[in-house]
Amino acid sequence: MEAGEGRLAGKVAIITGAARGQGEAEARLFAAEGAKVVLGDVLEEEVRAVAGEIGDAATALRMDIREPGDWQAAVSAAEAFGPLNVLVNNAAVVHFASIVDTTMDDWERVIGINQTGTFLGIQSVVEPMKRAGGGSIVNVSSIDGLQAKNGIIAYAASKWAIRGMTKVAALELGHHGIRVNSLHPGGIDTLMGNPAKMDNIDEFYRRYPIPRAGRSEEIARLALFLASNESSYSTGSEFVADGGWSAGEFQKFLPTS
Ligand SMILES: NC(=O)c1ccc[n+]([C@@H]2O[C@H](COP(=O)([O-])OP(=O)(O)OC[C@H]3O[C@@H](n4cnc5c(N)ncnc54)[C@H](O)[C@@H]3O)[C@@H](O)[C@H]2O)c1
Repeated sequence: MEAGEGRLAGKVAIITGAARGQGEAEARLFAAEGAKVVLGDVLEEEVRAVAGEIGDAATALRMDIREPGDWQAAVSAAEAFGPLNVLVNNAAVVHFASIVDTTMDDWERVIGINQTGTFLGIQSVVEPMKRAGGGSIVNVSSIDGLQAKNGIIAYAASKWAIRGMTKVAALELGHHGIRVNSLHPGGIDTLMGNPAKMDNIDEFYRRYPIPRAGRSEEIARLALFLASNESSYSTGSEFVADGGWSAGEFQKFLPTS
């Protein structure tokens, strides 16, 4: 593709959690579609390797999304490319424990990264996006921000919070030309979704309307749509890519086609 072409031509994007998984797929796709990308992750070596493979359109930094100073560094790196007009708040951690077994340390870690980190991201790009004349913020929530599951109290709290913060931000920032939407993946074959790296992960999803796990690239394509001007009339909304997991419950004893 020639310079200046692509669905994200002229865009400069910060993508957090870009060392692997969905963030990495988003970084590669956004750059292939003409964006300049700033990749942040606590996994410094891995995120630098991803940026190195992408080439001149990418730069990487060690970034802990809980740290306001790291956000400033990411914004500076982005504005070195040009006006900052896209943020994908993707980085997160999950923690599996019952309510009674969730310690204060577990709770504060998950809320600190997923919820506070996402808040700091939104806050950090408001002035830069105003300077850019507008922008698009994509906040990665989860199907666990739309419905519930046992054993993930802190993660669910953080992902519901991201969905709520998205709507507040959309209301506050719309008149600056800044759109804010939440993205809700479910069952994606990454280290978070498949920590044991099972080859047969698709088997776990046979009962859902699309009977397999999702791939990071399938989420990246939805993030691309939200980052691009193609989603120009959408803000404060929820965009789901979960193979139909959250559509409802299939009842074997009722009629089916
Ligand atoms: N995989 C799934 O099934 C699934 C389902 C629903 C939602 N999600 C969401 O999708 C997003 C991407 O997850 P993934 O599946 O690619 O998982 P992943 O674990 O492969 O990637 C997450 C990345 O975030 C980084 N990260 C963690 N803490 C950080 C911090 N404090 N600062 C900066 N970076 C940090 C990690 O190092 C990692 O590179 C997350 O928001 C996750 O909650 C995933």
